[in-house]
Amino acid sequence: KQTNVKDWSDHALWWEKKKTWLLKTHWTLDKYGIQADARLLFTPQHKLLRLQLPNMKHMKVKVNFSDRVFKAVSDICKTFSKSPVILSTLNNPRDPKKKKKKLEEAEEAALELEGPLLTPGSGSNPGLYSKTMTPTYDSRDGSPLSPTTAWFGDSPLSEGNPSILAVSQPISSPDILAKLYKSQSLLDKAKINQGWLDSSRSLMEQDVKENEVLLLRFKYHSFFDLNPKYDAIRVNQLYEQAKWAILLEEIECTEEEMMMFAALQYHINKLSIMSSGNHMNNSEKEVDEVDAALSDLEITLEGGKTSNTLGDITSIPELADYVKVFKPKKLTLKGYKQYWCTFKDITISCYKSKEEAHGTPSLQMNLRGCEVTPDVNISSQKFNIKLLIPVADGMNEIWLRCDAEKPYAHWMAACRLASKGKTMADSSYSLEVQNILSFLKMQHMNPDPPFIAEPAVTNDINSECLVSPRYLKKYKNKQISARILEAHQNVAQMSLIEAKMRFIQAWQSLPEFGITHFLAKFQGGKRDELIGITYNRLIRMDASTGDAIKTWRFANMKQWNVNWEIKMVTVEFADEPSLAFICAEVDCKVVHEFIGGYIFLSTRAKDQNESLDEEMFYKLTSGWV
Ligand SMILES: *[C@@H]1O[C@H](CO)[C@@H](O)[C@H](O)[C@H]1NC(C)=O
Ligand SMILES: *[C@@H]1O[C@H](CO)[C@@H](O)[C@H](O)[C@H]1NC(C)=O
Ligand SMILES: *[C@@H]1O[C@H](CO)[C@@H](O)[C@H](O)[C@H]1NC(C)=O
Ligand SMILES: *[C@@H]1O[C@H](CO)[C@@H](O)[C@H](O)[C@H]1NC(C)=O
Repeated sequence: KQTNVKDWSDHALWWEKKKTWLLKTHWTLDKYGIQADARLLFTPQHKLLRLQLPNMKHMKVKVNFSDRVFKAVSDICKTFSKSPVILSTLNNPRDPKKKKKKLEEAEEAALELEGPLLTPGSGSNPGLYSKTMTPTYDSRDGSPLSPTTAWFGDSPLSEGNPSILAVSQPISSPDILAKLYKSQSLLDKAKINQGWLDSSRSLMEQDVKENEVLLLRFKYHSFFDLNPKYDAIRVNQLYEQAKWAILLEEIECTEEEMMMFAALQYHINKLSIMSSGNHMNNSEKEVDEVDAALSDLEITLEGGKTSNTLGDITSIPELADYVKVFKPKKLTLKGYKQYWCTFKDITISCYKSKEEAHGTPSLQMNLRGCEVTPDVNISSQKFNIKLLIPVADGMNEIWLRCDAEKPYAHWMAACRLASKGKTMADSSYSLEVQNILSFLKMQHMNPDPPFIAEPAVTNDINSECLVSPRYLKKYKNKQISARILEAHQNVAQMSLIEAKMRFIQAWQSLPEFGITHFLAKFQGGKRDELIGITYNRLIRMDASTGDAIKTWRFANMKQWNVNWEIKMVTVEFADEPSLAFICAEVDCKVVHEFIGGYIFLSTRAKDQNESLDEEMFYKLTSGWV
């Protein structure tokens, strides 16, 4: 008692059998329902965890195992953002189990960086760099706190010592990629999503063991107000998550897109190596460069930003042009037929000719709630828009074909907005058009292929680490290198931060972006199907093809309930029959949390004049295993 100065303050009682912490010290054992034969463990609340970050690097962190995951993740991210850090060790997602072995091999190959052990919450005040993000909120109850820094954010470049978390490291060997790579079906993706932790319970209650490896990932794919100047860490980790998702084919993209992503990666790798060599010297200069890049670069992210809903109704822009239309549902399979089409508000009307545009349209579609998917091949000048329009008994499929990039960008942007019930009067319209155009421009083939005389240049590309293994099988390295160099011409002028932002933006433009899949059994349905959850809607999908069967918008939702006993989620809507599905395999809590998270995010966005509070967003962001 006297000499032993061991600090027991972190210890608490853990009731193994009931999987519960006994933290209410004023409660009697009786009140907890503990009998004389109960086995209680007096154990530290803080334990070691090995985290795999979005950049696939590992680090050891001491985490409060009795805190709710929500709070634990919040503490971890706060620590990241204020330490000039880090990184170490290993990997082993407990889910899916099958993958375990493969990943263990890969972890040996993965670059290991030793770093100090992090103990969130210990010492030092929270960082105080926040310039963009006020107010912030208490992690437990959401009440406002004083401005603090947040999360994966906020390491100003002017500190002159950018966190290693803000710097992208090139993949050093194709083996790392090859070992992690596994072509994934939609069902596999749905299985991986079973692994998300319940953020309202503690790690210990969810059977997470000391020293276990957990993955830390951005969970909700809506990134509000990404600010490259203050969010260097967040931008980099998002870039990394996107990069790995593309390289491991967790998200589909076309070959042209793959080469564009590879070119951006190549560019980012090059600039990262250069800047890490001399950042101590020109950090001030970098800030100027970021400012300069920012003034040229505006990025909207879906769901965020203010929108001009009060815009002048009389001045809503319209589109009118000859567009080819194709309805595959008609068995006639006649292919595309040309119409004079007008796009007004959120409705497309198609007429046989321009002259008939005052009469009754041959075809009319209201795009609210539709699914919009691009089908583009630049080298063959194909610019198609696939629309799945909700009707009483499912979705109507209609294709539009534009003959050039410019009209395509306008129609595509208008379709995307209309699907959300917004018109071209919305302030995000012109930005959306610009984003689509720049996305296409980055994929252009250059008429003058770069002069590749020295093999050294092609070697230096390291193309095996820049495209997914599927393309390594399909083409020779030399061919890939040549194409990457060619694509690189489109992005060679970009600054480092701009290239990362463009990469993230291009990732967001992919058709499957932001859909989290879960296995589900729908009422009346026979087979297992998928439910896709995104920031604004629920999609019932065919498990084998991924085709949308029906879409429901959150904006239209009245309420949702979970019957925990039969694991059934029911969602009621203002103007259509309710939806019910059973969570097959996945814990209903995970699905519930996804729906709740997105609704929460969008409601808050509305409450707060559509500028979503960053801090709150981050807290919901990361609790994955
Ligand atoms: C760990 O979390 C528990 C539960 O939230 C809390 O009561 C305890 O104070 C935390 N420990 C530390 C050292 O923060
Ligand atoms: C900073 O860079 C300049 C050239 O860009 C060089 O002359 C100078 O020595 C560098 N200073 C330090 C401290 O590295
Ligand atoms: C795009 O078009 C080119 C040229 O017509 C063709 O070779 C290529 O296979 C097409 N790519 C895809 C993904 O369809
Ligand atoms: C949002 O807030 C800003 C500044 O407080 C204000 O200028 C703007 O008009 C508001 N927008 C809406 C749609 O309320």
